Amino acid sequence: MQLDIGVVGFGRAGAAVAVALADAGHRLVGVSVRSAAAAERAERWLPAAQHLPVAELATRVDVLVLAVSDDALGPVAVTVAHPGGPGGPRPGTVVAHLSGRHGLGPLTPVVARGAYRAAIHPIMSLAGLDPAADAGRLRGTTFGVTADPAATPVARRLVADLGGRTVEVPDEARTIYHAAIVLGANYLAALAGAAADLLTGVGIDDARAALAPLLRVSLDNALRDGDAATTGPVRRGDAGTVAAHLAALLAAEPTVVPAYVSLARLAAQRLETSGLLAAPAAATLRAALDGADRA
Ligand SMILES: NC(=O)c1ccc[n+]([C@@H]2O[C@H](COP(=O)([O-])OP(=O)(O)OC[C@H]3O[C@@H](n4cnc5c(N)ncnc54)[C@H](OP(=O)(O)O)[C@@H]3O)[C@@H](O)[C@H]2O)c1
Repeated sequence: MQLDIGVVGFGRAGAAVAVALADAGHRLVGVSVRSAAAAERAERWLPAAQHLPVAELATRVDVLVLAVSDDALGPVAVTVAHPGGPGGPRPGTVVAHLSGRHGLGPLTPVVARGAYRAAIHPIMSLAGLDPAADAGRLRGTTFGVTADPAATPVARRLVADLGGRTVEVPDEARTIYHAAIVLGANYLAALAGAAADLLTGVGIDDARAALAPLLRVSLDNALRDGDAATTGPVRRGDAGTVAAHLAALLAAEPTVVPAYVSLARLAAQRLETSGLLAAPAAATLRAALDGADRA
């Protein structure tokens, strides 16, 4: 069944999800945006959608997607609910957001209007440079969904229409769920950047290209085989190599030392727990890493 959908905010995620929902056959009846830049983007990518104030848009749709920044969700939900005023969602409307961090809490103002809440978070990076390409990336993406029971079928259906897969996330687990994703994705980018900078610093041209095959294979192996895929000095128990790394990094780029130490400790702990690193070797590695803390 075709649903009438409205989108509040037309940034990176809002544009991708709106374009994908329209491609899936839903009626994108309207958008509500703040800046001229967002209005221009919406006109380009959703030319048939009307531009409406939030509370008016909320009245006209079956599903209202709040695609605003995390911190704006609470205040925007108050505007959607429009307490004491005309407009606002009709009873049974599903008001959804796309945030990973938040569960249903910020959407609570709409409950007083008889609306149902859903958090529908695509576990995907949507850069916003090409909303059509971002929309395509949602196909095959997993979505972390937390929803009021009455909104769950609609949330699941929207994810299925986008070609995605639903995993249900308990409301109280939302922050740790998001922390896990940020740890795995955003900080991976910081790590790759730091590794490339260190290689550039020793004169290697096109350091990212030099690292790319290794990083891709390491990631593929880790996602497929878990801790057993770990290679390198911690896996081998080469505490001397780890100590030499720390001394070299302290001299060349001390800002990366805390990250190196923390990740080496994490790797040692995981490998030891899964029986892939003997306890004495883990203890020797920890002693080398403790030395960095004292330096
Ligand atoms: N991008 C991703 O990779 C990604 C992936 C998964 C989930 N998400 C989630 O999607 C949501 C949006 O993120 P984004 O990356 O799309 O951010 P974004 O590109 O910065 O877009 C945010 C949009 O919200 C609007 N906005 C912000 N504050 C507002 C307010 N107080 N009232 C009305 N509109 C407001 C902005 O309007 P202006 O254009 O006027 O500034 C902009 O259109 C977030 O909850 C985020 O966690 C993002």
